[in-house]
Amino acid sequence: MERLICLAIGYVCGLFQTSYIIGRLHKTDIREHGSGNAGTTNALRTFGKKAGILTLLGDCLKCVAAIVLVRVFLGKTYGDILPLLSLYAAAGCILGHNFPFYLKFRGGKGIAASVGFILAFDWRIFLICAVIFFALFFTTHYVSLCSLSAYLAAFAAIIVLGQGGAYGMDASHTMEMYVVMGLLTALAFFRHRANIMRLAKGTENRVYLGKKDKK
Ligand code: G3P
Repeated sequence: MERLICLAIGYVCGLFQTSYIIGRLHKTDIREHGSGNAGTTNALRTFGKKAGILTLLGDCLKCVAAIVLVRVFLGKTYGDILPLLSLYAAAGCILGHNFPFYLKFRGGKGIAASVGFILAFDWRIFLICAVIFFALFFTTHYVSLCSLSAYLAAFAAIIVLGQGGAYGMDASHTMEMYVVMGLLTALAFFRHRANIMRLAKGTENRVYLGKKDKK
């Protein structure tokens, strides 16, 4: 039951679609522009840097908010499995972001929300992901490639850092955490399937910050 509550709290938080709201303020639907994705990269591409930063912050913070709510309301009762419940809250948030019911289930790809999760979950994993993301970004400029590589790194890092009950949970809850994180990683790849096809064909859009954006 507590897992469902965390998923529900997360889902409700995930419904706050920052890039869609910014699009509406521009009197348009972001999903009709660029890659058609309601997310940070497409907000940057469609509305510019300010919109990209706001979307990253909004989508990241909604996941942090979901985790904080879970910690505040369930922390005392379920302190022994709090890392796992935080992950369920993040999973709910990513589902709400990717599949918002009021937008006919057409949302984003869940990367910024996942950044929020990693930030709230383990700063060491956040640092690892940030290094991988930016190293790849400044060499390839493919945000999708950076996002998916960082996701895989986060999955691997959770497995490595969670060994021996390092997150304070027993073996079965630790294994459950690995499975849920694996499912989220698979979901991220599924949501990026069009990007993966474009990467394979060499037609994926590159993102440049600074002067090259104006091309
Ligand atoms: O976070 C989404 C990013 O990885 C790719 O976005 O708009 O290029 O499909 P987009």
